[in-house]
Amino acid sequence: MANVIVIGAQWGDEGKGKITDLLSRSADVVVRYQGGNNAGHTVVVGDRTFKLHLIPSGILYPKTECIIASGTVIDPKVLLEEVDRLKDLGISTDNLFIAETAHVTMPYHRVLDRASEEQRAEHKIGTTGRGIGPTYADKSERVGIRMIDLMDEKRMPKKLRWAIEQKNIVLQKLYNLEPLDADAIIEEYRGYADRLRSHVVDASLKVDAAIRERRNVLFEGAQGTLLDLDHGTYPYVTSSNPVAGGACIGVGVGPTCIDRVIGVAKAYTTRVGEGPFPTELHDDIGNHIGERGAEFGTTTGRKRRCGWFDGVIGRYAVRINGLDCLAVTKLDVLDDLEEIKVCTAYELDGKVVHDFPSDSRAFARAIPIYETLPGWKKSTSECKTVEELPTEAKDYLKFLADLTATPIAIISLGASRGQTIIVEDPIHGPKRGLLKA
Ligand code: GDP
Ligand code: IMO
Ligand code: MG
Repeated sequence: MANVIVIGAQWGDEGKGKITDLLSRSADVVVRYQGGNNAGHTVVVGDRTFKLHLIPSGILYPKTECIIASGTVIDPKVLLEEVDRLKDLGISTDNLFIAETAHVTMPYHRVLDRASEEQRAEHKIGTTGRGIGPTYADKSERVGIRMIDLMDEKRMPKKLRWAIEQKNIVLQKLYNLEPLDADAIIEEYRGYADRLRSHVVDASLKVDAAIRERRNVLFEGAQGTLLDLDHGTYPYVTSSNPVAGGACIGVGVGPTCIDRVIGVAKAYTTRVGEGPFPTELHDDIGNHIGERGAEFGTTTGRKRRCGWFDGVIGRYAVRINGLDCLAVTKLDVLDDLEEIKVCTAYELDGKVVHDFPSDSRAFARAIPIYETLPGWKKSTSECKTVEELPTEAKDYLKFLADLTATPIAIISLGASRGQTIIVEDPIHGPKRGLLKA
């Protein structure tokens, strides 16, 4: 029995979907604990590619229960589209459960997200435009609509009408936009409620029962450490807590239930949207990595910015999440490179710093200090064991493990399940342990 959290150790899109799917083989329950359909998790099985936005990446295993927990925000339209797409592909969603306390993304959230981005002009965040920030803002302001409200046939129309009328004032007065049609939205959401009703549960209770029955629970993070509202590169972050600590809050379980935390990191770095990115490449190598890694957003199709692996961020992710081990993905993308750089520290205002600066203005001034390693110039995508990897690739991985003082348990060399090397059991193998760092 083990309860495991999988998080993104960089700026999202690290390959969490692939790793969660892989680990779901031995999970009984997979829980998404934060974020909404800003997430795009890709799972490749054989010749089929699944793009999941809200549904946990464990859904491809028929017996695995998948739970969308309280800390998420749910756009029911998107969720139902996802359910329908999976059904068309022969994947059952009978085992999908939704927390009654999760907040609902409404049409006005999407409109407000886009309108506020437009108004921010050159200060824009580069959000996914899915209404995530405004949904969490309403949650914090205590005016949000929760799943439980949507399910209450009597109170739902009243609650929605009041909320829409309030937002219409903002839309008209602040953004000079057309008001939304309350009757049409109420009708639309009544339809969603009817379809989702049988899936809505007390998710904390359900996860707690699984833990007590000593079943394996996998907590799937969306986004990544540097997009965390509290610990990321604020204000260029998302509005939830993707870090490991967010799992306990988002699901409603205590920290003592967690046995292990696995961080997923690319062998290089990418970022979508605005904000500082010290190791970003603006040259042919950056373009090469982007093309070879097919670095386009799963959700918005935007081009992802690419750069070298950043060890300062790696160490930060280990600290903030208490990582036990790493899954390093997309090593194959570096196969053709002559040499590979890794950022080991920053030069900041004339000083060498090894720790991630919590002041985001300082982070924006950080200049990476690089170590250059030789490339391997061989294909790794068919390697099945560590021994089969080229020596330079092994050295590169050892360098990353030493730099972050964290063992690499999984190496991913392609999008498919089979393109993976399990170095040591990520769930039951040796833990990093705080004293070893
Ligand atoms: P997530 O948001 O963290 O789940 O990551 P995304 O699915 O948004 O982006 C990762 C992309 O890389 C997806 O298209 C995956 O299919 C793909 N991918 C995952 N692991 C590997 C890998 O090891 N090598 C290559 N070439 N692609 C990978
Ligand atoms: P997955 O789970 C990468 C980024 C957006 C933007 C910022 C805020 O697939 O790793 P938001 O719409 O959340 O208010 O946008 O966060 N962002 C992501 N970047 N992967 C994601 O999810 C992301 N979800 C949000 O690009 O910079
Ligand atoms: Mg993604």
